[in-house]
Amino acid sequence: MIGTALTNSATKALLLGSGELGKELTIALQRYGVEVIAVDRYADAPAQHVAHRSHVIDMTDSEAVKKLIALEQPDFIIPEIEAIATAALAEIEAEGLCTVVPNARAIQLTMNREGIRTLVAEQLKLPTSRYAFAQSFDELKAAVDSGIGYPCFIKPTMSSSGKGQSMVKTPDQLQAAWDYAKASGRVDTGKVIVEAKIDFDYEITLLTVRALNANGEADIYFCAPIGHVQEHGDYRESWQPQAMTADALGLAQDIARTVVNEIGGLGLFGVELFVQGNQVWFSEVSPRPHDTGMVTMITQTQNEFELHARAILGLPVDTQLAKTGASAVILGGIDATGVVYEGLAQALSIPDSEVRLFGKPEAFVNRRMGVALASSTNVEQARTNAVKAANCIVVKASE
Ligand SMILES: Nc1ncnc2c1ncn2[C@@H]1O[C@H](COP(=O)(O)OP(=O)(O)OP(=O)(O)O)[C@@H](O)[C@H]1O
Ligand SMILES: [Mg+2]
Repeated sequence: MIGTALTNSATKALLLGSGELGKELTIALQRYGVEVIAVDRYADAPAQHVAHRSHVIDMTDSEAVKKLIALEQPDFIIPEIEAIATAALAEIEAEGLCTVVPNARAIQLTMNREGIRTLVAEQLKLPTSRYAFAQSFDELKAAVDSGIGYPCFIKPTMSSSGKGQSMVKTPDQLQAAWDYAKASGRVDTGKVIVEAKIDFDYEITLLTVRALNANGEADIYFCAPIGHVQEHGDYRESWQPQAMTADALGLAQDIARTVVNEIGGLGLFGVELFVQGNQVWFSEVSPRPHDTGMVTMITQTQNEFELHARAILGLPVDTQLAKTGASAVILGGIDATGVVYEGLAQALSIPDSEVRLFGKPEAFVNRRMGVALASSTNVEQARTNAVKAANCIVVKASE
């Protein structure tokens, strides 16, 4: 049952985080008549351009989050980012008045690398890179020396998009990596994770949907694997499908199914995996649409936002791939507010291409401002065209 937006019967969704992924999700939800309230820490964030209403609050402040939820009384709270007051969400969920998507425990587990890694490696006993947690430089050094070795990755336990993360190749680089991780974590938990580097052939995001089937039971559905390239811990290009052996795909799906069923709830999850030959390792999981999954806007009839919306609302899903395609990010390239975009016509003259501009009020050199999409008969051509389209777009300061 869905009500009418902006009336007493409305089905209301409150988005905590209003970036580009939230913007597409808002559009998907509104197509079913859901009333969407977009929240972020700054005004005019992408999803706020299309939501029914918006609020600007400090989402890490429990009291501020609870006050807003009491005011809006949403049916669904949909966290779009990791930096939020998760304890408040657990309290709200316990009251039973609304659904935290997919559930409060999922949000708590995945916002901290320690939570999800310990669950997956130690409880579920699934393959991951060798890892250790360290609270001091000495602990870190001891962990690396006693088995993790070089090269390794040092990451703050609470961070995303590669912030505070570095790869260390030799012992003399370890101190700088420790200092960097300590200085740039989202919240200083006082802890870092150190992971042995996996020498993967390729990495994938396996979009995994937990949705109701025809019998009204939660079931697992997989999208075709998405390949991607990361730079400084942030994604630059993605494509779908990533070619995989049947064995590797089967293992990837087994891992994703186990993790997502353990987390539970309804929604779409981005399961990040490393693949070498027929070996697959779990890396991390987002309990929400994934940035690399933006490619599904051109490849799937039901893209990752539509799938998330349907799963949340208890509707049937279809994860079928319709076309081969690729995405390439459009970075700011400059630090400026109210930028202008040139080259859109050139970008769109590339066959089977599309462009999304997110409308972020402020550009930074490495901030994602848009994404170019292209479909083709093969991945190589799709990637070439997506990159070409992205490169056509020039971000400039307005005069
Ligand atoms: N143990 C590892 N072995 C090999 N590569 C790794 C390892 N850990 C991280 N990487 C590389 O760094 C990228 C980013 O790592 P990770 O996903 O842990 O960071 P993140 O900050 O959560 O990034 P995001 O939020 O963008 O997913 C990975 O996609 C992978 O390319
Ligand atoms: Mg990641």
